[in-house]
Order: sequence, then structure tokens, then C-alpha cells
Amino acid sequence: MSDNLSELSYRSGGKSIFERMVEAGESASGVETIRRLGEETLFGDATTLGAVSFYDFLRKESLGKKVLVCNGTACLCAGTQKALGETLGERFGVEAVGHICCLGRCHEGGAFQYEGKNYSGQTGKGLDDLFVLGKGDDEDRYVVVSGLEVPQLTGEFVGCENYYAPFRELLGKDREGLREELKASGLRGRGGAGFPLEFKWSACRAAEGEVKYIVCNADEGDPGAYIDKYLMEKQPHSVLLGMMVAGWYAGAQVGVLYIRAEYPESVRVIGEAIEELKVAGLLGKDVLGSGFDFELKTIKGAGAYICGEETALLASIEGQRPEVRVRPPFPTVEGLYRRPTIVNNVETFANVRAVLTMGGEGYAGVGTKRSTGPKLLSLDSHFVRPGIYEVAMGTSLSEVMAMAGGFRGKVKAIQVGGPLGGVVPVGRIGELSVDFESFKEKGFLLGHGGVVSIPEGFPMIEYIEHLFQFTADESCGKCFPCRLGSTRGAELVKKARDGSGYQVDRELLDDLLETMEQTSLCALGGGVPLPIKNILEHFAEELRPQIGARAE
Ligand SMILES: Cc1cc2nc3c(=O)[nH]c(=O)nc-3n(C[C@H](O)[C@H](O)[C@H](O)COP(=O)(O)O)c2cc1C
Ligand code: SF4
Repeated sequence: MSDNLSELSYRSGGKSIFERMVEAGESASGVETIRRLGEETLFGDATTLGAVSFYDFLRKESLGKKVLVCNGTACLCAGTQKALGETLGERFGVEAVGHICCLGRCHEGGAFQYEGKNYSGQTGKGLDDLFVLGKGDDEDRYVVVSGLEVPQLTGEFVGCENYYAPFRELLGKDREGLREELKASGLRGRGGAGFPLEFKWSACRAAEGEVKYIVCNADEGDPGAYIDKYLMEKQPHSVLLGMMVAGWYAGAQVGVLYIRAEYPESVRVIGEAIEELKVAGLLGKDVLGSGFDFELKTIKGAGAYICGEETALLASIEGQRPEVRVRPPFPTVEGLYRRPTIVNNVETFANVRAVLTMGGEGYAGVGTKRSTGPKLLSLDSHFVRPGIYEVAMGTSLSEVMAMAGGFRGKVKAIQVGGPLGGVVPVGRIGELSVDFESFKEKGFLLGHGGVVSIPEGFPMIEYIEHLFQFTADESCGKCFPCRLGSTRGAELVKKARDGSGYQVDRELLDDLLETMEQTSLCALGGGVPLPIKNILEHFAEELRPQIGARAE
């Protein structure tokens, strides 16, 4: 990421360069407008055109598509997408059907996007109603269940006046008090890595700079996860309140929610909630006479999984090619436009109100010693009652499965935590509890908490190919262990599946995974070996025809 470009981007003011690129990319005069944008902002057209070409939704080949079929992991395992793609191809022509990765409709399968809206689970008459009569049913139906005595993340919204009372109270207090509560709470980031919140917030607060930012990472790219989507669409104020508290604590003036384009409903609902806050006088200059100035805005992504990685996300907003950046410096010191920035996940921000209302110690009383507070899990369509489950950290995974009524059919494994999360054979589910430590100790990863089921009949070799191919498609390309390793891995596995009798050399595959794990710059290339290794360990027999045995 170039520092000069960051500064130019900061100075361009108003709408971010990325937002202008997206607008241009979606319009007919796209390339010319993007070229002019490069000249006007002094980025140069090579930079703007290079950045635009990175995004799935802005590529020339994506623009003519009428309908986009979800090819995320949950839909793949639901087995619905081949038939759906064929039906849509017959209706619109094969050329008009494109792909999109995870619409967060994992509870149903059969997801697709049409004219900017998401649908799922529709066949036959449902499709006729939508395409012929123009009356599609885009309702997103899933259960929301809390295992807590008092739901914290899934409770009922009580109106702005009551809901923001803890924030109003905070405005009259000193920031040190909040620091103590946050520290006592033990709240850790929910985006995957479990980083302590107080440490991050205090680092940004201590960083020098007149201008600071709060960024909400709402790029939820993990196929199988729709936790952030739920929070944004059904609990938008929980997320905004958390951002406002962060802004007040760190001395930031602007909060940005970077929301993936695959979630148009989230963009809409969050936008409306921001307007409600303006009407309630909780945003703008000198909020409630406290001297705190704060604004919130949304930025819609353009289809790139790596934009969930925080440094790539910041580069994206600046209009640069979203490549991962080497740290340090960390975003808390040099973040958006090289200004101190707090980047947190949607669910992390949503937890902040619980810390305020329960107090730091009260919050820490929910969960385990090291993984505190409530956690949301999203369960896919293989469960009897798919949906969002709120549990205290430390709850046994089997209990969550039981709350969801178990599996509908025969399932051999689940993948928890997205494509970089562990693949857990069903026989080992009983050993795990929903907390960072339990998963890590057993060789898996809790990650963000999306759960995808792999049915008995789904070939594990196909699942490995899917993981390699996903990484190859989404790699930012900055480091070659990931860029080349994922492509070579996908090639090896494809060859083993083509019926020619080719068997992957296990030593070669182990070397490849080790290289990716040890030498990739970020957790995309570095993380995907984990689920593949889990599969190799637990499903060696099934894989024997395609993958050779390890030499003793
Ligand atoms: C490849 C990759 C993808 C990521 N995707 C997301 C994402 O979609 N959402 C998210 O919040 N964090 C994601 N992260 C983690 C972020 O980089 C960052 O750690 C997180 O936003 C910090 O917030 P937290 O402390 O609240 O978890 C991703 C990381 C990597 C390496
Ligand atoms: S591991 Fe992959 S995504 Fe991460 S920096 Fe390297 S090339 Fe980019």
C-alpha cells in the first residue's frame, strides 16, 4: 500500500475514491470515468484501473450478468446450485448467469442474486413468480435462538431513546472509567483472531493525531457465516452504538462501515439506522452538548474476500488495490489514510453495549476465564432448525447442535469458522466447546463462528479442491506461497479427480501445505492448510484413491 496514494486519497475529500470507482464501474461509461478519476486524483489511470480490475463486481465480464448464483461452501454442500444454475441458464441463457460467493443465505441453500436482491430456496413456482410476475419472495427466514437467560446480542430493540441510554450516560464520564470496564470485561474481537478489545482501543486512544477513524469490518466473507448480516439487518443499533463508544473513547470523528455488496439489505438497514440517529441528535457536531463530534457512513464493497483482512480493507476504502500490508505499523497507529484507526468486526462492536449494561465484571462472568461474553453461531441448512444461536462462550458445541434439533440427514463433518476454520469430524464434536481455547487445543479454529455441514455423500476430495480454489480465486497476490501455492494445490487435486488414475503424492502435498502455512504473509494462505490437514488426518481412508499415503 503506497503512503503517497493514501495521502492523495485523504486529500481528495468527500466521497472516497473507492466509492467513486464503484459508481463508475457500475455505469456504462465505466472505463473512461475510471481513467479520468485516475487523472483528477493524481492516482494515475494504471492505479485506478488496476484497483477496479481486482473486484468481482466491477470486472467487465461480470457487468452483463442478469443473475448471480451463490457458489459459497454452504450452498455447495446443500447440493442445490447445479440444478439452480441449469434452470437459470435455460431461462436467461448461459451467458447471463454468473457466480457470487456467499449471500449469507446458508440456512436455506439455493441462493442467488437477481436485480440487486437476494433470494434462496426457490424452485418451480417460486422462480416463475419472481421472473414472470415480478413478485419474488426475498424474505430471509431463519430462527434466532438465545441460550442466555437475558439475551445480549439477540434481544428486542427498545427504541433509540432507551437503547442509547448507556451511551448518553458515558458522555458525562471520564474515559479512564470505560478503559477499566473494557479491560475487566475481557472482551475479545469476534472477527476470527480473538484480539483483546481494550488493548486495541487504548492503543488508538494513545496514538498521536488530530484525525482518527473507527472502521467496522462488515465484509463477512466467510462462506457459511451470516452472523454479521443478522446483526446489521436485525440489530443495527447494537453495531452503531459500539462504534460510537469507540469513537468517543479514542477521540475519532468518523466511523465507516465497510459492508460487502453481497448484502444489499444490510447496506439499506444500516443506512436507515444512521438516519434515525441523526434525527435523535446522536450524531453530528457536539453530540448532546458533550463536545464529541461524530459521523457515521457506509461504504459498499465490490466483491473481494480479502477485503475482510483489515489492511486490505483500508487500502480498498482508499481506492488502492486491496493488497494485504505488512504490520507494524498497525492500523491503531497508521490506519485509514495513515491516521490512527480502530478496526473491529460487526459482532465485536455489538458486544460493547453488553459491557456497558452488565459492567466489565458482569460481562466477564459470562463465558470462560479467557473467552468471555456471548457468542453467535450461524448454522446451515443441514440442521433441523438452521439459524442464529446465541450462547455463552464455553457452551459445549453438542449443546448448540441439540438446540438446533441436530442434523436433518447424515453428516460426516462440520467446518466451523469459514474456509480457514477447522474441519471437525462429527465424532469429535463432543470434545469441543464454543471458545477460542477449546478449538485451538483440539487442533481446530472457532474463527467467526459460521458452521457448514459436510454431508456423508459429499466427496472430501471435492471439498479440498473447493478450499484450494477459493484461496486461489481470492488471494490478493502479494506473496507467492499463497498466490502460487493455492493454484498448484487446486491443480493437483483437480488432476486427481479427472478419472485418469492420478494420485497426489502425499509428501509433495504436505510440503506445499507446510510452505503456505509457514511463509504466507496473512491468514488466507497461512490459514487454509489447517482445514485441509484436518481432512487429510480424519478422512485418509476415503481419500486413498486420490491422495497417496504418508511415507512412514
Ligand atoms: C483472509 C482474511 C479475511 C478476513 N475476513 C474478515 C471478515 O470478513 N470480517 C472480519 O471482521 N474480520 C476478518 N478478518 C480479520 C481482520 O483482519 C481483523 O482481524 C478483524 O477485523 C479485527 O476485528 P476484531 O478484533 O473485532 O475481530 C480477516 C482476516 C483475514 C486474514
Ligand atoms: S497470504 Fe494470500 S491473501 Fe494474504 S498477503 Fe499473501 S497473497 Fe495476499
